[in-house]
Amino acid sequence: MGFIEIRNLLKRFGKVVAVDHISLEIEKGEIITLLGPSGCGKTTTLRCIAGLERPDEGDVVIDGRPMFSQGFVPPSKRGIGMVFQNYAVWPHMRIFDNVAYGLKLARLPKREIRQRVQETLELVGLGGLEHRYPTQLSGGQQQRVALARALTRNPKVLLLDEPLSNLDAKLREKMRFEIQGLVKRMHITAVYVTHDQAEAMVISDRVAVMNQGQIVQVGPPEEIYHRPATKFVADFIGVTNFISGVVTEVDEDRAEAILEADFGRVRCGVLALDAVAPGRQATASVRPEDVEVVEGAGERENTFRGTVLHRVYLGNILYLFVKLGETSLRVQAHSAMPYREGDEIRVHLAPARTIIIRE
Ligand SMILES: Nc1ncnc2c1ncn2[C@@H]1O[C@H](COP(=O)(O)OP(=O)(O)O)[C@@H](O)[C@H]1O
Ligand SMILES: [Mg+2]
Repeated sequence: MGFIEIRNLLKRFGKVVAVDHISLEIEKGEIITLLGPSGCGKTTTLRCIAGLERPDEGDVVIDGRPMFSQGFVPPSKRGIGMVFQNYAVWPHMRIFDNVAYGLKLARLPKREIRQRVQETLELVGLGGLEHRYPTQLSGGQQQRVALARALTRNPKVLLLDEPLSNLDAKLREKMRFEIQGLVKRMHITAVYVTHDQAEAMVISDRVAVMNQGQIVQVGPPEEIYHRPATKFVADFIGVTNFISGVVTEVDEDRAEAILEADFGRVRCGVLALDAVAPGRQATASVRPEDVEVVEGAGERENTFRGTVLHRVYLGNILYLFVKLGETSLRVQAHSAMPYREGDEIRVHLAPARTIIIRE
């Protein structure tokens, strides 16, 4: 049994189905991310967990206790801390008062409030700054104030809704590691919402990819990346190439198939055998780093000749856009490779990483 159980959750706004029968179990101490494009229902799901929305159907169970079906449990009674996108620190209040706010509402003794605020500020790396005003802090520090405020009451569950989206790119990248480390150190169960796949990869134990109100795949970052369940997931997570063609052979034992593409016969891995059959159209996904530029002679299966259309140098890597038949493949090469536009090269597609996926 999960520490948080989302059971068949449905939430409508008028005719819009914001959350469409979602079920998800979250283990104690786990950081799970709801990842998906804008409007796919992430915030609504999070707000149902928090008790800020009431679902039309289904339930959320936290630590064995139903939040809706046996009487509504209000947000303040759920043991939850929340951090929002607009981190909502009050500009006219000192950091101390910003963080102490919830504790004062809960009417804790003054001495205890002081102690808890100080402890929490230490924890998020803001010790000694309690007398400052938010405007005297950087964006990253302000975000940590919001985090501290969510943590003061020792929540069992931390909910974070795009908490880094107001920060500049460099800081956002750094804060991912900070939040991940902090939540792990505190052994909190966390649900993190983002539309940024790189952020999800860094922060999460597991990622739940959402699309149009539904969860389309749940798994550790590696699995989501290398074994995407659908074309949507493959496309949304990272960069990939799609190769379309007709399946000519299926080897069920090895979970492989031959895809007849416009540039040749491609041996592919198959994740869902029921999705392929000889004669049927199919699409394979292969990441740029799984396409190898073949140097030197030698024949190997899944090696194809193509022309470099375009070369993009990124310092640490080199992208070559290679035309094979009518298909253009993005290939990740070593940045020292000498290839130029117009060059003829050979590329190899790793069969285990060239995966036929569901449409
Ligand atoms: N309070 C609301 N009233 C009407 N529609 C809403 C409301 N909140 C969300 N929606 C709609 O529900 C869908 C999911 O929204 P949301 O959960 O905010 O998505 P996300 O956080 O993934 O961007 C969207 O179509 C959105 O327009
Ligand atoms: Mg949202």
